Amino acid sequence: MSLIMLKDITIPEHFPIPPKVSEAELAADHQLFDRVKEALIAHQALLIAHYYTAPIVQRLAEETGGFIGDSLEMARVGKDSPLKTIVVAGVRFMGETAKILSPEKTVLMPDLHSECSLDLCCQTEDIIRVKAEYPKATVVAYANTSAEVKAHSDWIVTSSLAVELADYLKGRGEEILWLPDRHLGSYIANNAKTDVYCWPGRCVVHDSFDPSGIIKLKEQYPEAKVLVHPESPASVVALADCVGSTSQLLAFSKKDDAQTYIVATERGIFYKMQQACPEKTFIEAAIAPQGVSLDGAKCPWMSLNSLSKILECLEGKEPQKHEITVPEDIRVAALKPLNRMLAFSAALKAGSVPNDL
Ligand code: 13P
Ligand code: SF4
Repeated sequence: MSLIMLKDITIPEHFPIPPKVSEAELAADHQLFDRVKEALIAHQALLIAHYYTAPIVQRLAEETGGFIGDSLEMARVGKDSPLKTIVVAGVRFMGETAKILSPEKTVLMPDLHSECSLDLCCQTEDIIRVKAEYPKATVVAYANTSAEVKAHSDWIVTSSLAVELADYLKGRGEEILWLPDRHLGSYIANNAKTDVYCWPGRCVVHDSFDPSGIIKLKEQYPEAKVLVHPESPASVVALADCVGSTSQLLAFSKKDDAQTYIVATERGIFYKMQQACPEKTFIEAAIAPQGVSLDGAKCPWMSLNSLSKILECLEGKEPQKHEITVPEDIRVAALKPLNRMLAFSAALKAGSVPNDL
């Protein structure tokens, strides 16, 4: 197997990281909890929150019959819900995925500027060029991409299925053109032992985990197990007792018998981990000190999902500022690889994947 890093791809030097919110602003925002809860119920809106959102947003989902999950589960739940209004608390690709799968529903997001650095690493013009350079390769795009990028892809996949899909495509004799996360690309090439032409994109959070800092934490907590999301560098993955998507890391921490965990993923996941296992200790993995303007392992765009903005979605004067729209031609083209992912996931769960998906 080999990993071939693609060249001449436009990767932003700096990402438009939103300013940090002060403690006073956060406290004022939390005062809105009961009002937002009433608004969600009154508007019969389903709140779907990613594990990386703030604990108070996850609690709001819990108390209003909403849902908290990883990006694959979020896609499924929005599609299957009978409710006509969905509020997606996450980053924009998650809202777009919900709209692609449920065009008849109103999909709202607290802030349409909730980027993902991986999405920002992936320009359509580059994809068109690279596809022409590797015409035989199967384009597998990570879910963390725009609707337009999905429309140019053969498959979409989330981290929970990425190795299994790479294995499946290898079995069909297909080469993979993987985008946009370089670390996940390298992880699937190593684990499925297959050739991957890999995009050089990065997640600002996971790319910043620091192996030497994690080794120091291990010395301090020798009994601790290390949980790692595969968007992290290979040097961090090498230290892991479990590598997986957010849901997979959460599931491992529940069933495993250790008492302490060093967690290399976004800190929002601690809410559900601690709720499931109040007697266990979860420690945030170390972030490299140099060149990172992050507030620890915190996704700067997930933090845009405040209670005041959820309220604005439902009762604000400018609803168009919150509604996800996807041009119909792009939606139809993106639906195909997304449906393939959902069919693949369902077939895997059922225990047998047909060769012609
Ligand atoms: P999951 O698919 O594991 O939820 O991850 C999404 C994500 O953005 C990770 O950074
Ligand atoms: Fe994107 Fe990274 Fe934030 Fe996940 S944590 S949404 S990959 S920037």
